[in-house]
Amino acid sequence: MRIVLVGPPGAGKGTQAAYLAKNLSIPHISTGDLFRANISQGTELGKQAKAFMDAGDLVPDEVTIGMAEDRLDQADAAEGFLLDGFPRNENQARALDAYLERNGISLDGVLDLEVPEAEVVKRIAGRRICRKRSDHVFHVEYKKPKTDGVCDECGGELYQRDDDTEATVRNRLEVYHRETEPIIDYYKQQDLVVTISALGAVPEVTQRAMDALRRAE
Ligand code: AP5
Ligand code: ZN
Repeated sequence: MRIVLVGPPGAGKGTQAAYLAKNLSIPHISTGDLFRANISQGTELGKQAKAFMDAGDLVPDEVTIGMAEDRLDQADAAEGFLLDGFPRNENQARALDAYLERNGISLDGVLDLEVPEAEVVKRIAGRRICRKRSDHVFHVEYKKPKTDGVCDECGGELYQRDDDTEATVRNRLEVYHRETEPIIDYYKQQDLVVTISALGAVPEVTQRAMDALRRAE
């Protein structure tokens, strides 16, 4: 399947993507994770992205679209993928459509995760991520690691993201409403959108997502 995941910051896109990608045997492609990997490796692309991310603004399309397309090429997009955090504005959505068309493929669905703003603020404030693996995501209250600050799965150190400060989160939410929400309408015109509530325990949301995706197939 070829799927796009959308939802506000902290909705649980990364958390759900890890389970969905495993269940569906497709690669999880997160532009946020790709940027963070570039930053920690000190690449030129990482240097270009860092200031935008720290402010909670979108990294310019000139940088983002090329990076996403390279990753899709590597994954062999025809075999399926789960895109998390891309596209994030209408220009990126059009670029993705053009990419898919060039490759003779199309999307099967756009999964839209709905969560009230008060909940995403709580989720982001308590989030802790593993330094070794970006898909090892914890929460100080909702998904507590057995030992404070240590990843249950690989023993890596847990850290808080630089853009998870209150001011940056406020801007990320504004950017989401202004730039990203309009792509939901864009995809509704292609009849691709399935919206689910992302409230409740993580496995419940995964089940809801799997059911919705089966209906979209
Ligand atoms: P990105 O990394 O994509 O961040 P985001 O969209 O803000 O989303 P988050 O990673 O904050 O949240 P999430 O929905 O994945 O939630 P998670 O699963 O971690 O982007 C970061 C930045 O990179 C952007 O601001 C931008 O600068 C740049 N960027 C990226 N893509 C770009 C693009 N295409 N164009 C331009 N710039 C781009 O969950 C959050 C917490 O909640 C965790 O602690 C988790 O354990 C917990 N949780 C999850 N589910 C539940 C549940 N059901 N119940 C209780 N707790 C839960
Ligand atoms: Zn880990």
